[in-house]
Amino acid sequence: MSPDEDFHRFELEIDKWRYRRKDADDRKSQDEVFDQQNLMRIYKLFTDGVLDRLDFPISTGKEGNVFRATTPDEKLVAVKIYRTTTSTFRDMAKYVQGDPRFKGLTYRKRKLILAWAYKEYLNLRLFVKAGVRVPKPIAHLDNIVVMEYIGDENAPASEMRDTRLEDPEGVSDKILGYVKAAYQKGELVHADLSEFNILIHSSEPVIIDVGQAVMLGHPLAEEWLERDVVNMARFFKKYNVRIDVKAALEEIRKK
Ligand SMILES: Nc1ncnc2c1ncn2[C@@H]1O[C@H](COP(=O)(O)OP(=O)(O)OP(=O)(O)O)[C@@H](O)[C@H]1O
Ligand SMILES: [Mg+2]
Repeated sequence: MSPDEDFHRFELEIDKWRYRRKDADDRKSQDEVFDQQNLMRIYKLFTDGVLDRLDFPISTGKEGNVFRATTPDEKLVAVKIYRTTTSTFRDMAKYVQGDPRFKGLTYRKRKLILAWAYKEYLNLRLFVKAGVRVPKPIAHLDNIVVMEYIGDENAPASEMRDTRLEDPEGVSDKILGYVKAAYQKGELVHADLSEFNILIHSSEPVIIDVGQAVMLGHPLAEEWLERDVVNMARFFKKYNVRIDVKAALEEIRKK
């Protein structure tokens, strides 16, 4: 098959996703995510042997779409595709500004979103290195991040907000332990930690959505650390698990 024919077949394959979703918002978002540039990028991931097929959309969010996909050796992976047309990029700027790794970056929208996906990929690596349970990063291409899929054959793991925790105290301890490991070993603050960005897989918490995580050198790192801990205290109150924010922060910052 010629490369042109091969690409055409791939486009038809993708078309299935464009029209499958029923409501207009979803359809719009699928159309957006499968614009020509993204098609070329996904195609490259196929021809590079990173992916064998896209299975189904897991999530259609504000900033991007997440798909389950399968690799040529039949491993399940998650593919997060950041929208390059979102208006949220202004919010992104404050997380990238002040991060020494992105010094000198010009804040043109598209560039920022590409940097954002790369930042998520790099942050995932740092979290793994610090011993925090996050999806393992697999590949990065422009606005696309391929990572370990959290879930089983049938369904992705659910967000903590949709889960009935059997051992809330254990889960909360584990999460605060991860916050400390990230801070001490990774010099990182998640900066958007909430019950939406923690998946529960086999009763264990897995932290996701680390694109906005910042290094300790960031001027707002300490403020965002506190916000993360406050979010956890608020969430676990529902289970009557009390997190003393001041004591928890002291513990996280203690060498
Ligand atoms: N590695 C993964 N394995 C399984 N499911 C995942 C994975 N990563 C993300 N998801 C699912 O996709 C959803 C959105 O992912 P994420 O939070 O990273 O993106 P987002 O840009 O914040 O999207 P949103 O705007 O919806 O918050 C998650 O809540 C989760 O349900
Ligand atoms: Mg999220």
